[in-house]
Amino acid sequence: LSEFISELQAIEDSGIFSNYGPTNTRLELEMIRRLFGGEGSCLTVNNATTGLMLAIKAAAQRRPGASYALIPSFTFAATAHAAIWAGLTPLLYDIDPASWAPSAAAENALIEQYGDKIAVIVPYATFGNCIDLTRYEALSAQLGIGVVVDAAASLGSLDSAGRGFGTGSRLPIVYSMHVTKTFATAEAGMIYSADADLIGQLRIMGNYGFGQPRSSTMPGLNSKLSEIGALLALKKLEGFEEVVRRRAMIASVYRAELQSCTFQDLHGVRHAFQFMPMLLPVEHTPRRAKILSRLSLEGVGCGSYFSPHLAEQPYFERVSVMAPLPATQAVADRIISLPMSDTITRDEVGLVCTMLRTMLQEAA
Ligand SMILES: Cc1ncc(COP(=O)(O)O)c(C=O)c1O
Repeated sequence: LSEFISELQAIEDSGIFSNYGPTNTRLELEMIRRLFGGEGSCLTVNNATTGLMLAIKAAAQRRPGASYALIPSFTFAATAHAAIWAGLTPLLYDIDPASWAPSAAAENALIEQYGDKIAVIVPYATFGNCIDLTRYEALSAQLGIGVVVDAAASLGSLDSAGRGFGTGSRLPIVYSMHVTKTFATAEAGMIYSADADLIGQLRIMGNYGFGQPRSSTMPGLNSKLSEIGALLALKKLEGFEEVVRRRAMIASVYRAELQSCTFQDLHGVRHAFQFMPMLLPVEHTPRRAKILSRLSLEGVGCGSYFSPHLAEQPYFERVSVMAPLPATQAVADRIISLPMSDTITRDEVGLVCTMLRTMLQEAA
């Protein structure tokens, strides 16, 4: 913010701080131009969680009596919370063991079992991996099930045609710009769709459902991004290509250095790495907590996203229905998220990998 004093001054002078103001409009146009090849529409939101709430609520209206939201158990709590706020029951299902993306076979089995009780499917593009959106578009068109794509980590990922993940899809696709993401601001998000009418409806829903002046014509909440939040995101766009490129280079260093570990099977031509997820060799699974605490003692901050996965968290255990989750459990038990940042160096990554390799060898 200290680098943008004149722009902050301009916002202050304008007297417009929110309510889809001019900085926000500029941001939406620039996001479409620079990340989606000029195709489609988008709406900013104050974070991806409210974006998911809006999009799930809108999608579920297609099947008013249906009560389930299909959500992979290997995702972040926000997704299930959003479905619950939209009045739905999470139906937690398994992932593909290689890509860690939602399992198509598990989805098909649940569609068979639960039929028109399913209001919405909320697949997660796991850790910025590219998932098959055409399959979900077909499911939505053929079966009348709402689909909302959780692409929280995907800004910067490119699909197999080299386009920003999501480009051209008529589904609502929700991205996060939280400080932990590759497109890091502070708190922000956006919903993209090639369906401009849908974005228009979500824009109204995000402003209290005011379809007429100060009069609610549909469900609503306040999901608006402040002008200062929009300015931060506009500035992030300026150096973003280099951020994604550099992080992808760092990811390839991790892969080369840790050959005894298992990495995510990636689809698409480029991925936005918010951190570096990898699986410990199977035999080291019981030692994960010890490995994490030793790395932490050495000053290396690691995580284990998403462990516990949703079905292991007490609140979701109480309020969800669970399908079999063998692949989710196997991945969650072994996962470690290694450090990634805009400034981390090859040498630092080398040091982390040497420590980790030594710990694995000591235990062998
Ligand atoms: C998979 C997933 N969904 C949703 C969210 C929610 O994003 P936000 O923090 O912008 O609300 C996150 C954020 O960390 C996430 O990882």
